[in-house]
Amino acid sequence: MKMFDVYSIHDISIVTGSGSWVYDAKGDKYLDMYGGHAVISIGHGQRDYVEAVAGQLSRLGFYSNSVVIKQQAELAEALGRVSGLTSEDGEWQLFLCNSGAEANENALKLASFHTGRRKVISVGGAFHGRTSLAVAATDNPAIVAPINETGNVIFTPFNDIAALERAFAAAASEGGAAAVIVEAIQGVAGIMVEEVEFLRAVRRLCDEHGAVYIADEIQCGCGRTGRYFATDWADVQADIYTMAKGIGNGFPMGALAIAPHIKPRKGMLGTTFGGNQLACVAATAVAQVIERDSLMQNAADVGEYLMSELRKIHGIKDVRGRGLMIGCELNPDYESVATKLLFGQRVFVGTASGGRVIRLLPALNVTRDEADVALAAIRKVLTPAC
Ligand SMILES: Cc1ncc(COP(=O)(O)O)c(C=O)c1O
Repeated sequence: MKMFDVYSIHDISIVTGSGSWVYDAKGDKYLDMYGGHAVISIGHGQRDYVEAVAGQLSRLGFYSNSVVIKQQAELAEALGRVSGLTSEDGEWQLFLCNSGAEANENALKLASFHTGRRKVISVGGAFHGRTSLAVAATDNPAIVAPINETGNVIFTPFNDIAALERAFAAAASEGGAAAVIVEAIQGVAGIMVEEVEFLRAVRRLCDEHGAVYIADEIQCGCGRTGRYFATDWADVQADIYTMAKGIGNGFPMGALAIAPHIKPRKGMLGTTFGGNQLACVAATAVAQVIERDSLMQNAADVGEYLMSELRKIHGIKDVRGRGLMIGCELNPDYESVATKLLFGQRVFVGTASGGRVIRLLPALNVTRDEADVALAAIRKVLTPAC
């Protein structure tokens, strides 16, 4: 058997990691400014995390959701604290699954159960994952299979409040919108920051129309922007937050934080692996380390420093983002900057828009010195040889 060939792969095999550094099979060292695609939140090989997962594995690897899993309650408590999710109407609820797409799939389904409606409003440029509902709400026809086309999703342009109002009106004529799903900062689209006014309009219109506000925080959440949820910058609360990537620091996990007014019913949602003991201890360690080590503050500080220095670099047309979710749009002669950074400077970065945007998504405890290493490498690659 061989692998189904779906990825563009760099010919590098990463075998170990420590903090923001990873090492290949030859022992060569790379600075990870990509965080393994926004997944590594507290650093590679973080000690408390490794001890928690290894300790749990040595006691019990898995037992099903048919018994009390105390690690779930511990995670709910740690996530509630670090995210600051509180409400006068009761307690927020946590549902655990295994990936980002699965989190969005469950959120959309839950919104439909809750409202009895089927229409969903999504934003141009959105990426919500590759399962049926998630991919239907994703603005990329190339990854939507015929079987995923339901006709239930209305796309509205990025940051356009008038168009959002029209989308609600269009949904109203067909039974009403069950949900709006929105990334406060779009990652795959090239680090596109929704204006706070747009997110406030989402909140207002969801309230007016009885729709569920789903904040997809899979890439922009988990403290990456300097606040736990990127939506927090708009000072609004969503009804459902979907999480994945950073919450497990590499342990596969997805989660939904669900507002108290959305009521559960037995069997409404379910999963075999979601909320397993190993994932829960991993995510609890992540939440505790973020809080204990003030990593959101570090993300804000180092992110601000990086952005201000990146803005001075010739060859970068636009720098956007918040905290450690940074996009650099390159001038038209941008060709293969990410590849040059990787093979010439040994710095991992992400890309978007076919390489026109480089994405910096490092661990939240990346240091200012490490940021300087990345900046020097970017300057070197972008400075034309004299
Ligand atoms: C905003 C957003 N939502 C959903 C997903 C899907 O997550 P997963 O790949 O874990 O299914 C991603 C993945 O990149 C994402 O960036």
